[in-house]
Amino acid sequence: MSVAPDLARAAEAIARRHIALGAPLHLLDETTSTNDEAKRSAKEGALHGATWVAESQRAGRGRQGRAWMSARGESLLFSVVLRVPCAPARLPPLALVVGLAVRDAIAVALPSADVRIKWPNDVVVGERRLKIAGVLVEATLSGANVDAIVVGVGVNVHARAFPDEIAAHATSIALAGRGDADRAELLADILAALDRDVPIAAARGLASLHARLSTADALRGERVRSETSAGTAEGIDVDGRLLVRADDGALERWSSGEAHLVR
Ligand code: BTN
Repeated sequence: MSVAPDLARAAEAIARRHIALGAPLHLLDETTSTNDEAKRSAKEGALHGATWVAESQRAGRGRQGRAWMSARGESLLFSVVLRVPCAPARLPPLALVVGLAVRDAIAVALPSADVRIKWPNDVVVGERRLKIAGVLVEATLSGANVDAIVVGVGVNVHARAFPDEIAAHATSIALAGRGDADRAELLADILAALDRDVPIAAARGLASLHARLSTADALRGERVRSETSAGTAEGIDVDGRLLVRADDGALERWSSGEAHLVR
């Protein structure tokens, strides 16, 4: 089996952006996880920009040990190795920078949809805030330093049905109204935004991206809960933490875990 035509054009679409990411490009029919491919290769010296794209994953992973499920050919599944100077503390906020890149690329494909970032790593669509994409940022370390960053992205593109476990909360570009989305263009758009924004955020933090992040924030003004707390989301701070006005009036800054939308 080989990759479908809308992915086979990926190298061409990337070349048109004149960027450092997306080369070398490894187009795989199947793998365990593109993040595994990228991490293993990063440890063996893969250079900045090396990218793995797969039609299917046998063991796709999400945050917090969850599985990432996608049927063959229905998603954009990729991981890219980034070698930019980055303090370990800047890694969690980078997921938001990646989320913004993915959000913007999906918004190009779905110009009339409301596409937003749901802290800390999801891209959601519409009033029901259905998940359309997820981001997994990992790193290889050299002692206490970040040696390479591996950015993994999964976007639901052509899927028209989902497994029972996620069906109530998931959607795709096809279900949101665009049946002819081109995964090569989507990939190239995301890589171009990462090429532009990640070095800045890794060096200086989120400040210069903060206005765009706030506009795209799916949780602002919404009631949210974590495992231990609940309140109203008041935005994302420049360190990438979710600001939550707790029910006792205190302003909390959530830096990890999940924020569940309560409606
Ligand atoms: C999440 O929603 O928790 C993050 C999901 C990230 C999934 C992508 S698919 C490509 C890459 N390979 C993986 O195994 N995971 C990421």
